[in-house]
Amino acid sequence: VQGQASGSAAPADRAGTYALVTEQVASLLEVCPGPVAAMASAAALLKDTFDHFSWVGFYLPAADGSLVVGPYQGPLACIRLPAGKGVCGAVATSRRTVVVPDVHAFLGHIACDTRARSEIVVPLVKGGRLLAVLDVDSHLPDAFNTDDKHGLEAIAERLARGWPT
Ligand code: SME
Repeated sequence: VQGQASGSAAPADRAGTYALVTEQVASLLEVCPGPVAAMASAAALLKDTFDHFSWVGFYLPAADGSLVVGPYQGPLACIRLPAGKGVCGAVATSRRTVVVPDVHAFLGHIACDTRARSEIVVPLVKGGRLLAVLDVDSHLPDAFNTDDKHGLEAIAERLARGWPT
């Protein structure tokens, strides 16, 4: 139907699927020699597992406080997000997960993909240092629930804890 959001549904057992993916990420970390391999592998695994994700990837803090795009899966995205701007900037500052059910209602949302309707951003923090933010977009409105929040936070925590250096 014209005007209706495209995108596919989340798996029926979202929490169970996240538990499996978290285990897979833990296994991947054992063989990843560096953070790029870990982020690229996690992004590929997440994008291929969850049909309600249109874009998934990482933004990394730069010396000037901006965020620079890292490994991701999905359509071409913004390369650099100015310090403190957008959903990612808000999460980099607060270091708390932000769920945005409607991107058009989030003041300062940065639209890399005009089809994106909802978003979730989770920080990766280790020893008080922000390593990255994990960003997920969906073409569906209100695509992310508490299972996504808890699941993505568990994956971010696992990645941060095992961050290969
Ligand atoms: N929407 C994000 C920008 C990154 S893209 O979604 C990939 C934001 O507002 O920070």
